[in-house]
Amino acid sequence: AARKIFDDIEAQFQLGQDALIKITEQFLEDFRLGLSEYNQPMAMIPTFVTGVPDGSETGTFLALDLGGTNLRVCEVTLLGNHEFRLKQQKYKVSETLKTGEASALFDYLADSVDAFLTEFSSAVGSPTVTDIDNPFEPTPPAVPLGLTFSFPVEQTALNQGKILTWTKGFSAKNAIGNDVVQLLQDAFDRKHLHVRCVALVNDTVGTLLSRAYTAGSCILGAIFGTGTNGAYVERVENITKLGDSPARAQGGLMIVNTEWGAFNNTRTTLPTTPYDNKLDRESINPRKQAFEKFISGMYLGEITRNILLSLIDAAPRSLLFNGRSSTPLNTHYGLDTAVVSEIEEAWESGRTDRIAKVNGTVPQWQSAHFTEVNALPPQDVDRLERIRGILIQRLELPAEDVSLCDAATVRWAASLVANRAARLSGTAIAAVLVQTGNATLGGGTSEPSENIIVGVDGSLIQHYPNFQTRLRASLQSLVGEAVEKRVEIDLAKDGSGAGAALCALQAIKQGL
Ligand code: BG6
Ligand code: GLC
Repeated sequence: AARKIFDDIEAQFQLGQDALIKITEQFLEDFRLGLSEYNQPMAMIPTFVTGVPDGSETGTFLALDLGGTNLRVCEVTLLGNHEFRLKQQKYKVSETLKTGEASALFDYLADSVDAFLTEFSSAVGSPTVTDIDNPFEPTPPAVPLGLTFSFPVEQTALNQGKILTWTKGFSAKNAIGNDVVQLLQDAFDRKHLHVRCVALVNDTVGTLLSRAYTAGSCILGAIFGTGTNGAYVERVENITKLGDSPARAQGGLMIVNTEWGAFNNTRTTLPTTPYDNKLDRESINPRKQAFEKFISGMYLGEITRNILLSLIDAAPRSLLFNGRSSTPLNTHYGLDTAVVSEIEEAWESGRTDRIAKVNGTVPQWQSAHFTEVNALPPQDVDRLERIRGILIQRLELPAEDVSLCDAATVRWAASLVANRAARLSGTAIAAVLVQTGNATLGGGTSEPSENIIVGVDGSLIQHYPNFQTRLRASLQSLVGEAVEKRVEIDLAKDGSGAGAALCALQAIKQGL
């Protein structure tokens, strides 16, 4: 009976080739819908950023970044040689601010900028920026700031956009439907701060721009962090919902923020399990952000916790921790993805069987099915001991209730959840490659002549063991080896600050 329970769970988390292809096809269909109509779940937001930088841009700007793990205020100096310098300070956003009145949240943002300017900043408002302003102006020009706001915003210009909805645990009141630049500017004005928000970007757009700045080109900026999303360079003629607007008439290229976290909210194509349903039902935004809930750092720990609870409660006998639970295990979001990542790290470090690592397959003796600890090589026993230690400490479980077999079981559950996340992430990237004409689904045979540059950022892709390796395996199965090996997926670390600065520069040049 135990064997059947484990097998059932494993089967539910498998994603075969056919499923991956179907999901990618659905992605392309949803891209098409979102480009042709407003108010689609996959919003495909035109950003009004109509080109990518070439690395020669210069200037010093302030950037404010809300929506990732931390709130950041940065002073960004674009050096003009494909490099930028960043001075930054991170601030925490409390749960109360995330869910209270929007004005309180925006006041806090303004206070953070104020604190940063007082303590850290020196060069903001450098000649490159002030040159553009009227030199005869009696008062010094306000310090220009680019805002990275990592939530869905229906943009109408580089410096204008209405908040469509909150994601990632935010739900501040009286924000939806309002212009986010105005909300921030009002807060600056309330505090008499001489700062002007001149541009607005999503973190994915910032990541794309900053990767283009450092690498010379980039077609996709993607975040795999607390949330997940991607922005890519689209031909304006394909953004048919822009109708006869001047932006459309101009033609050329425009960055589109897909908001792919909301892909397939109806869950007709996504391989939903009861563990996912439980997560969704108990979340702050049920039936929203379906794709994000399968993939991103905010949720992987919670899906794993749901699996562990079901094993603790398994009938006729418990299959984990002698049936014992604990406060973190009984707490909503009590198992942080960082802990799950630590468990996978303990298992992966020093592992010699590269093949299992790349394919994400789990030989039986390494899976939850094994019972014969004695039969394991000593180095594997060591690694399980380490995982056991993590479980005792982080999950606050009594040592006598955590066996080595339990350690293997938890590692197995974690890898099921992470493998699925990484494979699904591959479908999103594949869909963008196909949409932009860089690949064909199923894989063409010819190798592209140039590398395809993708910029990524976020805690998951940065820190989760082998996330990118697993993602690439899925990508390869969708677009073929010839294309996959020309895809350069590089970290645009802290890139959205630089991206916001580049947008601020654009906005100032456009006289906004
Ligand atoms: C940061 C960027 O590096 O990564 C943010 O500055 C972005 O703009 C974030 O939102 C995403 O990662 P995480 O893990 O913090 O959500
Ligand atoms: C969420 C937000 C999106 C953001 C992503 C990554 O999906 O809706 O705007 O880009 O998280 O931070």
